[in-house]
Amino acid sequence: MGRGLFITVEGTDGSGKTTQIGLMKDYLERKGYSVVLTREPGGTYISEKIRAIILDPANSRMSAITEMILYAAARAQLVSEVIKPALESGRIVICDRFVDSSYAYQGFGRGIDLEVVESVNKAALDGAMPDITFFFDISPEIALNRRIEATGTDRIEREDMEFHMRVYNGYKQIALLNPERIRVIDSNRTVEEISKDVIGWIDRLLK
Ligand code: TYD
Repeated sequence: MGRGLFITVEGTDGSGKTTQIGLMKDYLERKGYSVVLTREPGGTYISEKIRAIILDPANSRMSAITEMILYAAARAQLVSEVIKPALESGRIVICDRFVDSSYAYQGFGRGIDLEVVESVNKAALDGAMPDITFFFDISPEIALNRRIEATGTDRIEREDMEFHMRVYNGYKQIALLNPERIRVIDSNRTVEEISKDVIGWIDRLLK
């Protein structure tokens, strides 16, 4: 990959990712880095259109495979249009969700074979793998309630708690399988404590 730094952020819905991403970006910009902030599914004109199809409550009949391929399609566009060019010009990319979301939600959550998720996404990633991934570890019950209180719900968030538990446990397994890349962040703490932890890891990487 290019000369930049590629950071991704993962967690179940409402795990506090957005707050921490804002703090990360502020910190890095204060240190003089050029930061590109993006999110999945979305982040480009085409990817946002795909996002609208996936999250539309009217599309509740969407098959798991269709969904998985649409996430990968949105990702392919984001990688080629935003992530790769930014890394090649030496910038820091922070992406709110990336391929681990597909393993956790489509693989562990919906039960699609992980090897199928991997092979479809191999094409989408085109070699772009994060340098570091933060998994914000908080129980889905607490996380989901926080999120619903703050913003209401969308189609995926109304799935049953068992689905969210499968996703959550999936993330933990993915983290165990990728200890060199994924940092598990205990998110049952204050915003300040979590941020200190995250920034500590980023500093270590920048040195
Ligand atoms: P969003 O409203 O962006 O949620 P969040 O703020 O929690 O990231 O919706 C994204 C939803 O899409 C979220 O429920 C997770 C899901 N998702 C997948 O199922 N697979 C994927 O590959 C990605 C990127 C997201």
